[in-house]
Amino acid sequence: MQEKILILDFGSQTTQLIGRRLRELNTYCEIVPYNKLPKNLDGIAGVILSGSPFSVYDKKAFYTDLSKLRGKLPLLGICYGAQSLVHQAGGVVEPCETREYGRARIETRLQDPLMKGVKEKGIVWMSHGDTITKLPKGFEIIASTEDVAAAAFRIKGEQTWGLQFHPEAFHSEEGMTMLENFLDVTGVKGNWSPASFVESTVAELKQQLGDDKVILALSGGVDSSVTAVLLHKAIGKNLTCIFVDHGLLRKHEFETVLKDYEHLGLNVIGVNAKEEFLSELAGVTDPEEKRKIIGKGFIDVFDKEAKKLKDIKWLGQGTIYPDVIESLSITGTVIKSHHNVGGLPERMNLKLVEPLRLLFKDEVRRVGLEMGMQEHLIKRQPFPGPGLGIRIIGDISQEKIEILQNADHIYMTMMREWGLYDKVWQAGAILLPLKSVGVMGDERTYEYTIALRAVTSSDAMSADWAHLPYDFLAKVSNEIINKVRGVNRVVYDISSKPPSTIEWE
Ligand code: XMP
Repeated sequence: MQEKILILDFGSQTTQLIGRRLRELNTYCEIVPYNKLPKNLDGIAGVILSGSPFSVYDKKAFYTDLSKLRGKLPLLGICYGAQSLVHQAGGVVEPCETREYGRARIETRLQDPLMKGVKEKGIVWMSHGDTITKLPKGFEIIASTEDVAAAAFRIKGEQTWGLQFHPEAFHSEEGMTMLENFLDVTGVKGNWSPASFVESTVAELKQQLGDDKVILALSGGVDSSVTAVLLHKAIGKNLTCIFVDHGLLRKHEFETVLKDYEHLGLNVIGVNAKEEFLSELAGVTDPEEKRKIIGKGFIDVFDKEAKKLKDIKWLGQGTIYPDVIESLSITGTVIKSHHNVGGLPERMNLKLVEPLRLLFKDEVRRVGLEMGMQEHLIKRQPFPGPGLGIRIIGDISQEKIEILQNADHIYMTMMREWGLYDKVWQAGAILLPLKSVGVMGDERTYEYTIALRAVTSSDAMSADWAHLPYDFLAKVSNEIINKVRGVNRVVYDISSKPPSTIEWE
């Protein structure tokens, strides 16, 4: 078992960020809700207590008995985590007169391993409405800010620390050094690398799956592709992949991606189900209805193919960490994410295997590259499961699909040629159900409008429209109008998310 740092989540918005920071230090960590502390602490090298939207003295505050951890493992409390350490040991936490928010200058008071290499007067990021006004016996201040005496403290005789500021925040200049120092104490700093992940995951998968057979839906995207290659490394021929063409993929996408998969040695069944999907979608204009039809159609095809195979026990899925964290909301509300194959495991009575469930997106990419996958597969931009089905606004027809595929192909090919493909998060063309008047030669035209979309983002939760060069847009517009029959107008979408979304439907 790989040793890890456990992050106990008390509901702060920055909990994920703590996880990210540790991973940036190549250290393996897992986030668990505050009330899911494992009884057995084997394999845990240290624990970090996150911040929280609550005050420690709120009746509804999330509570974990910290005596279960203190003195047993290196422990670092952040903000609410630090205040909980104080509160539970009999110290005093009180509301601040004014909520402290923003940069603060921190000054070290005591020599301490956590402060090694921290500038004597460094910058940290404060964000709290409460403050510690009295430390319990045995607690010692190691650093202060102008307004907060106990900005950082330690507990004598233990490897326990508390920080009232957020070391994980981007603006906490000294924060990374403190986190690094904490990891040094735990002895697991730098234990995560793509190579170590591949090695330990393949070994675990071999043990978990034995001679069992696994089926996996491929989408052409990074997550499902990397999942397939990992599973293939572990169980070889016992993995069967299914790649469905719902007729709403990009131009030539089905053939090229299938070739890529075969090149990787995967056993892939390519299913052409275009007609089934198109007939189900005929006349449907509502976006959610379209999504439902495509999702259900996908499950039907997949189920039918799986039934032709024998003795399948497992369903592989390319779930990644942000999906897991979203559905682990500690208040019990499950936040909905775009899930195209929800319901599959129940319907097919299969067990789930999700080898990437603890990785962030960039780590998935590093793992893929480590396993020798081609860059163009790894760097592929996200593409929605319902594909062009939600980029043809309104009802879908074969004619419209062809128009959009051709326009999108020109746009994406030119993005690559101009070196823009890797600079944006995601791009694509949209076909609007809007005809307008134009003139070509001596003739009046009355044809469709194509909208071009390109956004920059780091996680698709928010996004800015990409400031693509005018020269590029001019060329793309020209090419599309000249070469794609049925289009006489091209517009560029300059809306950000929020309030707009990335997709138009
Ligand atoms: P929005 O439009 O919500 O998109 O800003 C955020 C990200 O999710 C993708 N997306 C989907 N992906 N099924 C998917 O697999 C869907 O139904 C779906 N809708 C949006 C979108 O392309 C972007 O990356």
